Amino acid sequence: MRPQDITREVRNEGAPLLFSPLTLRGVTARNRLMLAPMNQHRAKDGFADDGLLVHLGKFALGGFGIVMTEASAVLETGRIGPADLGIWSDDHIPGLKRVTTYLRSRGALSAMQICHGGRKGAIQRPWHGFGPLDQTDMARGDNPWPLVSATAEAVGPGHATPKALDREGIDKVVAAFADAASRADKAGFDILEIHGGHGYLIASFLTPVVNRRTDEYGGNLADRMRFALEVATAVRRRWPSSKPLFFRM
Ligand SMILES: Cc1cc2nc3c(=O)[nH]c(=O)nc-3n(C[C@H](O)[C@H](O)[C@H](O)COP(=O)(O)O)c2cc1C
Repeated sequence: MRPQDITREVRNEGAPLLFSPLTLRGVTARNRLMLAPMNQHRAKDGFADDGLLVHLGKFALGGFGIVMTEASAVLETGRIGPADLGIWSDDHIPGLKRVTTYLRSRGALSAMQICHGGRKGAIQRPWHGFGPLDQTDMARGDNPWPLVSATAEAVGPGHATPKALDREGIDKVVAAFADAASRADKAGFDILEIHGGHGYLIASFLTPVVNRRTDEYGGNLADRMRFALEVATAVRRRWPSSKPLFFRM
């Protein structure tokens, strides 16, 4: 939107711009309030349940224009913690559809954030310390999984060393993001966001602090961006052109 349009909108409506509708591609939010993605660490096997419906639903009832899910894993091994919301299986679609149907019925647009945790995966639920999953967590049924990243460097002391993704591994993750986009569409989401921040897998490729690869996915900025762009391109191919795609970094 051009600055003069913003000024006109404020003058015409006499209300703060925050409360005016926002059209992005083919969807219109009733206002510009968006619930930020916030991991709840309470999904079982990635499934949306009544708790998620109530949690997100209350923000739609409260008047938010856009309600976004927490970071939702595109692969089971792409979870941040063991109780992340997931979209790695078609089985996840019906539970999510119930959520989007409710949000729509209350006038909100629904948005899903899709994510791969990379080397920051296999962490404890916050109330158990947010550290690497350990024996106590395993006794509770929270088992760790093998991690991947741009390079084989642990995120910190005590955390597992990830495997550096090879070409085949990269293709698999890109395909998983694309499949997640198709599922999110089937589940009825209006907006999709790729999580490219917070040190997770995509961010680990973007930053020279972690990415010291010597192949075409490392080195200068254009090469470090290659993985993120491959993900975004694959997702955009599957995500309807009438629906907005966000990228968080
Ligand atoms: C409990 C909690 C969980 C979060 N989970 C996510 C997440 O899943 N994805 C994400 O991109 N950001 C996540 N964030 C970051 C928020 O989206 C937001 O950027 C952050 O809280 C800063 O905004 P604030 O200053 O309004 O709190 C989380 C934040 C909190 C407090």
